[in-house]
Amino acid sequence: MKYNFDEEIGRIGTNSIKWDFTDKFLGVKNILPMWVADMDFKAPEPVISAIKRRARHGIYGYTGRSDSYYDAIINWVKIRHNWEISRRWLTDSPGIVAGLALSILTFTKPGDKIVIQPPVYTPFFDIVRENGRQLVLNNLKLENGRYKMDFDDLKNKIDSGTKMLILCSPHNPVGRVWTEEELFTLGDICDKNDIVILSDEIHSDIVYSGHKHIPIASISPDMAARTITFIAPSKTFNIAGLLNSAVIIPNEKLYNDYVNKMHAMGLHLGNLFGIEATEACYRHGEGWLEELIIYLEDNLSYLIDYFNKNIKNVKIIIPEGTYLVWLDFRATGYSADKVNKLLREKARIGLNDGRVFGPGGEGFERINIGCPRSMLKEGLERIKSVFA
Ligand SMILES: Cc1ncc(COP(=O)(O)O)c(C=O)c1O
Repeated sequence: MKYNFDEEIGRIGTNSIKWDFTDKFLGVKNILPMWVADMDFKAPEPVISAIKRRARHGIYGYTGRSDSYYDAIINWVKIRHNWEISRRWLTDSPGIVAGLALSILTFTKPGDKIVIQPPVYTPFFDIVRENGRQLVLNNLKLENGRYKMDFDDLKNKIDSGTKMLILCSPHNPVGRVWTEEELFTLGDICDKNDIVILSDEIHSDIVYSGHKHIPIASISPDMAARTITFIAPSKTFNIAGLLNSAVIIPNEKLYNDYVNKMHAMGLHLGNLFGIEATEACYRHGEGWLEELIIYLEDNLSYLIDYFNKNIKNVKIIIPEGTYLVWLDFRATGYSADKVNKLLREKARIGLNDGRVFGPGGEGFERINIGCPRSMLKEGLERIKSVFA
């Protein structure tokens, strides 16, 4: 291994939400934080160098995104996801949540119905509701330890007011990497009902052996024509704090509408360090990412083994991608409140309460394994201390 993911790097005092804000969000201080979805690894060295080089220049004026920046994205999507995208389809967003919200405002009207598939990333609920659209919940089904989409339920819930679906691909928190067949079936339903798809593919670069991320827009011209795809180096290379994402819109009308709205809201300019870092990640980060995935797979195997041996009444939903693992505490017999209390106050570990991911989340917790093995071990010991 060329990179040292075992290195323990202190983050306390950096205003890290995960480490420094646990009292505000989880109600407890001084706990081992394994919740927020960022990793406790340094970004790849070429990314750090690119930021330092730019910082040394000392003038931080308005900064554009160059042809070379977009070429790096086009190349990354081709080599990692086998999808040939055109420069004309590419545009920008600060974070992905901002781009999703902007798309809701651009492509739907107040009162329109938007489908999401819970348990799912919490802000999906807020960006729909807080922008005055109606949520349609197409819950995932848990069958034999694996989550599936419920297409019958989706068909039943769609009506003439349903205009959009937000796809989480791969899925946070349940860790599914959707198969081509699932994407085809989903896409077909959206096509028949003229539903625009927002495909949040922020987790698409972290996929485990035996699984393959497929961008839904790449599966057919029809899908390309109705999908807005969101990608970013933020999860992949652990640079979420730099807030820079890319948006892929092959449909010219949708593209123009998105870009116009982005300008209208003053969201078209990027943070210069985010722009520098994005290009450096996509140009020089592939070797680092390959090793990161191996390290995360080893962390996952360690966790599975540990739970099987030591914490038998908590079931693991084995993720196919993402560094997030969805844990089923229902067999412990404790209420969700009690599980949280035990974890946070007794074991002194911070996980995400499954209920924040909406219906279907009760009795589950999400743990983040994007950390050095020593921290993972410590976290598992803490869970064992209250649930063995
Ligand atoms: C599915 C998903 N989308 C978006 C985000 C956040 O994206 P951003 O920070 O770019 O808004 C996350 C972070 O956890 C996520 O899991």
